[in-house]
Amino acid sequence: MPHPYVLLSAAVSLDGFLDDTGPERLLLSGPADFDRVDEVRASSDAILIGAGTIRADNPRLLVNSAERRAARVAAGRPEYPLKVTVSGSGDLDPDAQFWHTGGEKVVYTTDKGAERATHTLRGLDVDVVPTGAELDWRVVLEHLHDARGVRRLMVEGGGRVHTQLMTQGLADELQLAVAPLFVGEPDAPRLFGPGGYPPGRMRLVETRPVGDVVLIRYVPTAPGEGALAAAADRHWLGVACELAALCPPSATAFSVGAVVVAADGTELARGHSREGGDPVVHAEEAALAKIDPADPRLRSATVYSSLEPCARRASRPAPCARLILDAGVRRVVTAWREPDTFVTEADGNGLLVAAGADVVVLPEFEERAVAPNRHLLAAG
Ligand SMILES: NC(=O)c1ccc[n+]([C@@H]2O[C@H](COP(=O)([O-])OP(=O)(O)OC[C@H]3O[C@@H](n4cnc5c(N)ncnc54)[C@H](OP(=O)(O)O)[C@@H]3O)[C@@H](O)[C@H]2O)c1
Ligand SMILES: [Zn+2]
Repeated sequence: MPHPYVLLSAAVSLDGFLDDTGPERLLLSGPADFDRVDEVRASSDAILIGAGTIRADNPRLLVNSAERRAARVAAGRPEYPLKVTVSGSGDLDPDAQFWHTGGEKVVYTTDKGAERATHTLRGLDVDVVPTGAELDWRVVLEHLHDARGVRRLMVEGGGRVHTQLMTQGLADELQLAVAPLFVGEPDAPRLFGPGGYPPGRMRLVETRPVGDVVLIRYVPTAPGEGALAAAADRHWLGVACELAALCPPSATAFSVGAVVVAADGTELARGHSREGGDPVVHAEEAALAKIDPADPRLRSATVYSSLEPCARRASRPAPCARLILDAGVRRVVTAWREPDTFVTEADGNGLLVAAGADVVVLPEFEERAVAPNRHLLAAG
């Protein structure tokens, strides 16, 4: 069930509000930040807002810069990103600017909402897609990926939408523009409402002043159980795949990256194949060797490895699946099952599961994990 990369974007006041309670939309960002948002829009395949934001702000959601639109067209993409909204009720104003400007439009809604929306939006070129009795965010993201080819989704609010994507572990990145002003009204809309958020701290990837606002970019990092694990797992498996690209080339061994992450999202160590001049060291082995075996965080840590940990190897006495179990780690996330290029029945995942470990395979990363090993597969 591949999803697009989901980027939450919002401007907030110093007291954490998205807007005030007045009838006009409160301008939190300045011109420089609106231009930055325009650039992020231009880089996205689709932009999503909730029906509440259509009602409150009546936005057009365009890429305003003609150069950026021309660059999209030159790259073979539609001039404007796909515009997406979600509504439970299907109560959507057919005169809203959303429907009459910019790119193609799609509404995700409930079965009941679809009846209503199909009626109120009749005559408009809008795709109304029901996700069942309730609005189901996973169905929305899968449909955007599979039916609409969306690989990068920018979400521009409001608070209800942001809160659900973050608490359901579906957000890959948060881009926050913090504006130097206060709202101070208790009933104003908040960026994030109450809910079960991913545990631990997010990872800071960038801060940048943009005029008088500050852009902060965070990614979720804490692996966990269930839905909350999803975004952190994608982040860390992406890191493992990037590490695989650092491996010294080899005609006789795989290039693999691995990273060991504590339950609170702290990185404990990373490694890649053949690092540090050791011609036979494996990625998981290299990473685990950097951690004190007595570190109590190992028991609840996750090993992310671009390739399934090995179950047998000629070069060292213990295969990586064994090293992982011996280190006390009981959760492994990987992108690619080991092909029988070098050993047959290389079932490291099976060995881990038989010993009581949780193994998650994220096939959407397989292509990236395979990329630095393509020559080995072609030869075999
Ligand atoms: N500062 C910023 O960057 C920024 C950005 C965007 C918005 N805003 C502000 O945010 C405010 C609007 O936020 P909001 O939280 O009220 O609205 P919202 O998140 O834009 O939209 C909420 C609506 O989306 C639909 N929806 C969302 N999740 C659903 C679910 N699980 N099931 C069914 N329906 C679901 C519902 O539509 P139905 O009601 O049709 O069922 C719901 O009322 C406005 O004041 C706006 O100015 C600020
Ligand atoms: Zn190995």
